[in-house]
Amino acid sequence: MRQALGWTLLCLLLLAGCGRDAPQAPPTPGLTPAQARGRAIFMGAVARCSSCHSLEPGVRVVGPSLAGIATRAGERIPGMDARTYIELSILKPGDYIVEGYPDAMPRNIAKQITGDQLNDLVEFLLTLR
Ligand code: HEC
Repeated sequence: MRQALGWTLLCLLLLAGCGRDAPQAPPTPGLTPAQARGRAIFMGAVARCSSCHSLEPGVRVVGPSLAGIATRAGERIPGMDARTYIELSILKPGDYIVEGYPDAMPRNIAKQITGDQLNDLVEFLLTLR
C-alpha cells in the first residue's frame, strides 16, 4: 500500500517535470524567434496585415502581395534601404503609394502595436525575399 503510494507520487512528479519542459508553441521552421513573433503579428487580429496582404506572389487583396517585399523594398525609393522603406510603409503609409493601389493602409497601426512588435514585424517582412 505504502509502496503503491510512493510510485503514484513518483509518477506524478515525473509528469509534472515533463509538463514543465514541454515547449509552449512549436518552433516555426526556418524563422528566428523574433521573425516568428513578427509572422504571428502579421497574421493576427490586431495589426490585420494579412486581411489586406497575401504572401502568395501576385495575389492582390486590398493591397499588393508582400511576397518578395524584402527585395522590392530596397528599390522603391532611391537611396532608401529595405528596412527603412518597410518601417515607413507601416508608420507613414501615405508617404509612398504603390502605383495602381488605393491609399488604404490604416493610419493607426503604430498605436495598436508596441515598438518591439513593430521590430518583430519588420524582421518577418525582411525574410520575404
Ligand atoms: C485595409 C487594408 C490594409 C491593411 C490592414 C494593411 N495594408 Fe499594407 N497596404 C495596403 C494598400 C492598399 C497598399 C498599397 C498602397 C500604399 O502604398 O499605401 C499597402 C502597402 C503596403 C506596403 C508597401 C508594399 C510595396 O510593394 O511597396 C507594405 C510594406 C505594407 N502595406 C505592409 C503592411 C503591414 C505590415 C500591415 C499590417 C501592420 C499592413 N500593410 C496592413 C492596404 C493595407
